Formats: sequence, structure tokens, C-alpha cells
Amino acid sequence: MDSRISARALAALLGGWRTSEPAYEALADGIRLLILDNRIAPRTALPAERELAGVLAVSRTTIAAAYRSLRESGHIRSIRGSGSVTQPQAWAAGARTAVSDPGAIDLQQASPAAWPGLSSVLAEAAGSATTILASPGYDVVGHEALRAGIAERYTRVGIPTDPGEIMITNGAQSALHLLATTLVSRGDRVLIESPTYPHAADCFRAAGARLVSLPVTTAEGWDLDRAEQAFGRAVPTLAYLMPDFQNPTGRSMSDIERDVIERAAERAGTLVIVDETTADLDIDRLVAPRAFGAGSGAASVVRVGSFGKTVWGGLRIGWIRASPDLVRRVMAARFAVELGTPEWEQLVARLLLPRLPEIVAQRAHLLRAGRDAAVMALRESLPEWGVPHADGGVSLWVDLDAPLSGALVMGLRSAGVLLSAGPRFSVDGGYERNLRIPFTAPPERLERAIDAIGTTWRRVRAGAAPVMIDRMDAVV
Ligand SMILES: Cc1ncc(COP(=O)(O)O)c(C=O)c1O
Repeated sequence: MDSRISARALAALLGGWRTSEPAYEALADGIRLLILDNRIAPRTALPAERELAGVLAVSRTTIAAAYRSLRESGHIRSIRGSGSVTQPQAWAAGARTAVSDPGAIDLQQASPAAWPGLSSVLAEAAGSATTILASPGYDVVGHEALRAGIAERYTRVGIPTDPGEIMITNGAQSALHLLATTLVSRGDRVLIESPTYPHAADCFRAAGARLVSLPVTTAEGWDLDRAEQAFGRAVPTLAYLMPDFQNPTGRSMSDIERDVIERAAERAGTLVIVDETTADLDIDRLVAPRAFGAGSGAASVVRVGSFGKTVWGGLRIGWIRASPDLVRRVMAARFAVELGTPEWEQLVARLLLPRLPEIVAQRAHLLRAGRDAAVMALRESLPEWGVPHADGGVSLWVDLDAPLSGALVMGLRSAGVLLSAGPRFSVDGGYERNLRIPFTAPPERLERAIDAIGTTWRRVRAGAAPVMIDRMDAVV
């Protein structure tokens, strides 16, 4: 047993769990989803039955029956002295792919397939790999030529950059982790959009941050009143933002939103981490706003970028753009985590740099096909849902007509469709009325998935008593 979750914390994570009858099975499903999503880590002791019954205001028999169901499905185990403890899930049954079912459609990750030209670039790289094979094969700050190429790209779009301001990382995820470990001390406040990219929130939480949420909606964008209040009152050490094609809403900040947030961050002395992993995924945005933090006298900004969505997630190349001093601090912290980025992948990235305009155009084409197919299928199959317009990015953040996102996602697993429920993207609870539907898969797979979503939704919706839906509304 590694850790323990309190009844209150579990209740907060569960949100509106009571989505169907019998109550014990709905509760078991809610806890199962948290385990599958890794929101409750393996080997965590669940609260005692009596304590959880008190907090959830249900009988102890209901909790006992839910725990029994979880034991039978292999999600928890009873350990003498520790009570009910969550079990590591086999990969096949776990949070990612249902490997056992080759027909399964995994939409938990919003990752486009590799850019079709990548295999020939890999072949070209293999032809000139002799020099890197004679070197150690990895380095902590990044190859000079790759750093220079990325710096030049920034300079070209009006953000003058020196190669000394670039550090190559193993994807944007490693960049976020390194920045969180370097910049966050336990108890520091970090302002973060809600909904957000969950693994960024994980990094800041793991570094001991207290997260302060800034709401973003598909209809209204960034809540500017809340932004000014949050920067003014919480005086966060850091803010983590995705101004372009925010994951999961797909929204981009308007120039006004950029101005207000930059000024508020500057007044609070907050360093803003701008995650541009999805920034190049423009399908049909009419006007490209100016880069966040590029205005004069604007807030201090650290940028994070990646080839993960633009080229391929399997190419673990990301970067940090920061002051040379911060690059040195991150470098010092990096050795404890990893020794650097493989030269091989950096060589491939160098060869890709001049092809980026062509790659970005192909991505727009691919994402447009996915988005249009998903929107059309959703309008047909689920006309009662709110489907926003996304002019770029990787996903649709749809509004369900009842707070049953978790129940839907659990129901879909048996139909071979894997999705993440709305609450996975929240910072402080909620979003049971939302679902992220990535449009990175081929149209035909998206149509099949949405067909299954429609069928499962009608079943889940019909099984939920209206009185429960009303009660859950108060929670969400
Ligand atoms: C917004 C955002 N940031 C960072 C990452 C991590 O990217 P990478 O694959 O480069 O580690 C992702 C991947 O999904 C993302 O969506």
C-alpha cells in the first residue's frame, strides 16, 4: 500500500456518481473509471466503508456492495490492516488501449497518425547516422543546429530568439515536467485553465503546486474577470496557458484576451508557461492572432513546443524557449531525471525543419476531414448535444444534455470505444456534462465510434432516473 485517499477526496473526484440504479453498481463504476484514468493511483487504500458511507450519504451496505463488485472485477483487493486497496491494472484492461480487442477504437489520446512523409525522412536520416553513432548519442541541452533551426522559426514569426534560449526535450511532456520541478516549490500557486491538458496539471500537482483554475468555455473563451481576480488575489508563481487551439476546447485567445491576461500576469509578477504543442494545428482560423507575450512590456513568458502533434507523437522531440539563465537552471535539474534527448531523433527533427510548412498543410487537411466527419456524425446521431465549432486543434469539447459523462465512458468500454470523461480535464471537479472527442482518427473510425456513442448514450440516459440527474446538477 503506497497511499491512502480520504472519503472527502474520493467524493470530490467522484462528483455526480449516482448515474444509474442500482446505486452500488453506479458507485463501483465511478471508482473503476477513476482507477482506469489513473486519477486514483494503484496501491491506494480506499476509505473505510463507514467513513465513505457518511460522506456520500448512503448506507454502509451500498459501499460494501460497491467494494465487493470492485473486488470481483479485479480493481481492488482486501489487504489485512489496510482495507480495500486499488490494484495495478493490466495494460489491456487499463487506461490506454484495449489490446485484447483489435477492433477497439482508442480515442483517449488525441494523436494524429504520423505525417506520411516521415518514413522517407527516417531513411534519409539512417543514411547519415554514422556521425551520431560515433558520438555518445544523446545530450542534455540539444544539438546546436536543431536549436538554431527552432530559434530561427521563432525569429521569423516576430519572436527574436537566440539558440542559447532553446533547450531540446523528450517531447513537450518532459519540458513541462522539467519546468514544474525547476520552478515550483511546495505550496506555490499555479494558475491553470479549466478544462486543461490533464498531464500538465499532473506535473504541477506532483511538484506540490496549489492549482488555481481559470475557466475557458467553447462559447465565451477565457473568463477575463476571473483571470484578473485570480492573478490579483492568488498572485500565482506560474501560469500555464494554451492560447492557440487550447486542448481540449479548441479555442484560441482573441487579441483582447491576450492583452488582458498578459497585463494581469505582469502586474502579479507571474511567469507564464505558454504551451504551443497544438499551436500549428490551424484548420480554418480566419485571423491568426499575435503570439502570446510577443507585445512590448508583456508578461515574462516561457514557451513549450513539440513535434508530437505536428509530425508524430512517436518522435519524442519537444523544446523549451526560455532565458539562457532559466535554460541553465533546467539543465541542472534535468540530470536527476534523464541524461538528455537522443541524437537520432534530433537528427530526424533537423531534417524535418525545412519541411514544416508542407507538414502543417497536410495536418490541416487531415484534421479538417476528421473534424467535419465527427461534427456531421454527432449532429445526426446526437442532435440534443451541443457541438461547438473548432477551427483547429485536436478535439471537440461537446456539451452533453445530462451530467453523465463518466457513465457514458464506462458504458462505451464494453462497446470497444475508449474515451476520457469530462472530469479528467477538470482542475477542481465538474465537467460531467462534457466529453472530449478527438478528431485525429480517420473519418471512418470516428463515424463508427460516434455511432456507438449514440447507442450507448441513449441506454445510459434512459437508465438514469430524472431525479438523480437533477441532484447531480447541483454537484457539477
Ligand atoms: C497541450 C499539450 N501539451 C503537451 C503535450 C505532450 O506532448 P508530447 O507528445 O510532445 O510530449 C500534449 C500531448 O497530448 C498536449 O496536448
